[in-house]
Amino acid sequence: MAKGWQAFWERPNRIYAGEAHLRAHYKRIFRDLSPHLPADPAAVVLDYGCGDALAAEALAGRAGRLWLYDASPRVRDGLQARLAGHPRIRICDDPHLTGLAAASVDLALLISVVQYVDVGTLRAMLATIRRVLKTDGRLIVADVIAPGTPLVRDVASRLKFAAANGFLLADLAALVRLQLSDYRHLRGTIGLTTYDEASFLAVLRDSGFASERLDHNVGPSSHRLAFVGRPL
Ligand SMILES: C[S@@+](CC[C@H](N)C(=O)[O-])C[C@H]1O[C@@H](n2cnc3c(N)ncnc32)[C@H](O)[C@@H]1O
Repeated sequence: MAKGWQAFWERPNRIYAGEAHLRAHYKRIFRDLSPHLPADPAAVVLDYGCGDALAAEALAGRAGRLWLYDASPRVRDGLQARLAGHPRIRICDDPHLTGLAAASVDLALLISVVQYVDVGTLRAMLATIRRVLKTDGRLIVADVIAPGTPLVRDVASRLKFAAANGFLLADLAALVRLQLSDYRHLRGTIGLTTYDEASFLAVLRDSGFASERLDHNVGPSSHRLAFVGRPL
C-alpha cells in the first residue's frame, strides 16, 4: 500500500488554487521548457512524474512522441480520460515504462518530483531514465529545493505568481486550506528532500550524467534549482 507522499498523490489534493492556477502553472512550465526542447520534430520526449500535464498537447506539438509517466494510478486515469486517442501522446504505467526501448528518448523531464522521494528512489528513477535516453539525449530536472529554504520563500513566490496571473484571492484561500490539510502534516513529518547544487550534481554524476545547473528554474518557483544532464 502506498505511504507518505506517494499516498498523498494517490488522493485528490488541493495543492493548486483551482483551474486558473493549474493552467498558469503548466503554461509557465511550457514557456520555460521551450528553449530546451529538441529541434527535431520527430523527437521522443518522456515526462517522468508528469502530474496533470496540462502542457502535454503543447509539448506534443513540438515532438514526434510524448510519453507521460506518473507513479499515481489516479493521475494516469485522469490523463487517459483526457488524452487517450491523441496521436502523439501515450500514457505509461509501470510495465510500459520498464518496457520502453533502451536509447529511445531524446529528452526526459523530471520536474517537481525529486523533493517527494528519498535519494534511493531518485537514483532508481535516474537509472531508468539513463537506460531509455539516447546517447545524445538530455535530461532536465527542475524545481529542486535547496536545504534550508524557508517555507515563507515558497509561499511568497506562489503568491507573486498568483497575483501576476489574476488568482491571488483564490490562492490565499487555497493556502489556508493547505495549512489545514495532510500536506502540512506530511511536510512537517516526512518533509521534502532537499539538495544543494553540489550534492545534486554528484547524484547525477553517480547516475551516469554529466550535468550543469541551469540559470533559471523551470516553473513558477524561480528560487528553486534546475539542471541539465547528458549521458556520460
Ligand atoms: C508536484 S507534482 C509535479 C507534476 C509536474 N511534473 C509539474 O511539474 O507540475 C509531483 C508528481 O510526481 C509524481 N510522483 C511522485 N513520486 C513519483 C515516483 N516515484 N515516480 C513517478 N512519479 C512520481 C506524483 O504522483 C505527482 O503527480
